[in-house]
Amino acid sequence: MTTLDVSISPAKPKRTAASPFYVLRRLANKEKLDKVFVERLTEPLHLNLLSVLVSLFGTYRMKVAFDLIVRQQYAFPILYAADAARRHGYRQVTLVELGVASGAGLLNMCRIAERTTAATGIEFRIVGFDGGKGMPEAVDHRDLPEHFQLGDFPMMDFAGLKRALPSNAELILGDVAETAPAFAQTLTREAPLGFVAVDVDYYSAAKAAMPILLGAAENYLPIVPVYLDDIGVDGSNPWNGELLAVSEFNAENALRKIAPFTLLRSRRIFKNTQWIDRMFAAHIHDHPYRSPAHKRATKWVIGNEYLK
Ligand SMILES: C[S@@+](CC[C@H](N)C(=O)[O-])C[C@H]1O[C@@H](n2cnc3c(N)ncnc32)[C@H](O)[C@@H]1O
Repeated sequence: MTTLDVSISPAKPKRTAASPFYVLRRLANKEKLDKVFVERLTEPLHLNLLSVLVSLFGTYRMKVAFDLIVRQQYAFPILYAADAARRHGYRQVTLVELGVASGAGLLNMCRIAERTTAATGIEFRIVGFDGGKGMPEAVDHRDLPEHFQLGDFPMMDFAGLKRALPSNAELILGDVAETAPAFAQTLTREAPLGFVAVDVDYYSAAKAAMPILLGAAENYLPIVPVYLDDIGVDGSNPWNGELLAVSEFNAENALRKIAPFTLLRSRRIFKNTQWIDRMFAAHIHDHPYRSPAHKRATKWVIGNEYLK
């Protein structure tokens, strides 16, 4: 086993706020500009105007609600996990990124976690998983080899990434087929797993990493948001890529199921962003909180305004 568990020296995560320079840089990129046009400028004008005020004067929570955080697909689930953790009485939550490459996503995750801690008081442990050498060889057509190939996305500056990560972040190097299942056994109820970003691109790697969701039930939040980054590429369908890994996971596990995040589009202010369609949730049906033995302190009562 070539797994290397690397401890990270304390450092300040890079800022990931949507500064005017960052916004201009994004707009200079045609693909990003197209995305802004399609996703944002198709939304109602009054909401876009309100966004300007929120970006200037809003709280972090408001900025997440208005999709103003860089890598919103991490900001929403991390805040969701923090709110759930508070409700369930946890003080710390574990966040995972499967597939790190050069680490931009992992650094975003660290910065977002820091801002979420400031907003909610919940602390985070952040763990990135990567082979460190770029994509391995695709196994067969289910890995979408027309898109992803051997050596894509290498980790360009391991030492630099190490230095940039804060003290609550770890990088676990090795094939996720070995590292992810082993990691699931090290989770604790003191820092239950609360979010998994799946960005290993291949069906074979996503399938191999799925046991990260199969540890002891009490070491997870009852609902764990799961972001599937690569289900939007042309050619992706339920019979290949990350969607196939999810459907096989569901077929193989009676009490753990991954499903699209319930009613997410109708809960969001901005409906057109792609990340909504990539956000799923792992349901830990054997979690003690989801057992009939778990009782609420108060009964729910439905009033009837039609009775005098
Ligand atoms: C698209 S990149 C990740 C990008 C990153 N999340 C970001 O946002 O910057 C995909 C990564 O998955 C990793 N990967 C793919 N298969 C893997 C495997 N079986 N074990 C470990 N890492 C793997 C590759 O090394 C590659 O760096």
